[in-house]
Amino acid sequence: MDSQNIYVLGIESSCDDTAASVIYNGKILSNVIASQKIHEEYGGVVPELASRAHQQNIVPVVHNALKKAGITKEELNAIAFTRGPGLMGSLLVGTSFAKSLAYGLNIPLIDVNHMQGHILAHYIEEEGFEKPPFPFLAMTISGGHTQIVKVNHYFDMEVIGETIDDAVGEAFDKSGKILGLGYPAGPEIDKRAKLGNPKAFQFTKPKVDGLNFSFSGLKTGILYFVQRETKKNPKFVEENLNDICASIQYTIIVILVDKLKKASKDTGIKHIAIGGGVSANSGIRQALKDGEQKFGWTTYVPKFEYTTDNAAMIAIVGYLKYLEGYSTEQNVMASARLKI
Ligand code: KG4
Ligand code: ZN
Repeated sequence: MDSQNIYVLGIESSCDDTAASVIYNGKILSNVIASQKIHEEYGGVVPELASRAHQQNIVPVVHNALKKAGITKEELNAIAFTRGPGLMGSLLVGTSFAKSLAYGLNIPLIDVNHMQGHILAHYIEEEGFEKPPFPFLAMTISGGHTQIVKVNHYFDMEVIGETIDDAVGEAFDKSGKILGLGYPAGPEIDKRAKLGNPKAFQFTKPKVDGLNFSFSGLKTGILYFVQRETKKNPKFVEENLNDICASIQYTIIVILVDKLKKASKDTGIKHIAIGGGVSANSGIRQALKDGEQKFGWTTYVPKFEYTTDNAAMIAIVGYLKYLEGYSTEQNVMASARLKI
């Protein structure tokens, strides 16, 4: 197959970002995202509002992605879309739109697993960014996911660890809520953590067997700690905010790195790639760098715009599947709990 002139449109609508991207032979030509601000006032994503906003955004977002790429829809070779996992009402918007566009243009329709997208974002052609060699370990950390995946090849992946309750981003956001910070709180905790002492306060780490994670106990521990200390000193949070943030962030990083260490030891794999919104965290990035010295890891962090939810990662998976001659049927259904 001629792999030299392939344009694929990727569409992502699994949560609260409506996104579209055009990829040309593995290189991103456009990466458009309409983020939904409406959820901020609720302190979390409201599914029904997300779905309605996707409906409003999808046409202009796709239009913009094509315009920025400098192509017409007739030049597209395939349409890739997120089939799942995610919020059903949100997924339906992207799925239905992708189906009709592929049908109208009479070109292949390619369904993409959002979690594979986070992982294969590392294969976007991007100057200054190396692609991890197979096999490697991928840790996806965001507001919706916490997973460690053993990646043997593009479409040969095994989930070897995942959260049994909250995602790591939720741990940041819910802790931030307890401290009176805005949503999402991860970036603010990160900023304040740089100014605080990570050993100022100790929080109990969860005991979860194997490579799975748990974050809901940590959140409850932080809540009780703050309630107890505030009873003694009503200004406790205000006076110690940077130290509290640093201590929370430190605890979360130790939890993540301990599991990565175990995963690397169990599998013998030292190539470690991260993705998802939480991989923006400066403490986690530093901990990975330290891992290179301490444990002989080689670590990979994609360009920031490809770590948070985006359609470029859907487009790269679509492109890779297209090269394998893959396409799906028009009767494909969105799947909220789609597995890798
Ligand atoms: O990937 P993403 O944009 O959306 C999904 O959740 O899918 O990730 C958003 C999450 C939020 O929980 C946010 O608080 C967290 O990523 N986050 C951070 C940082 N930047 C974003 N958490 C910690 N430190 C950061 N610098
Ligand atoms: Zn995601």
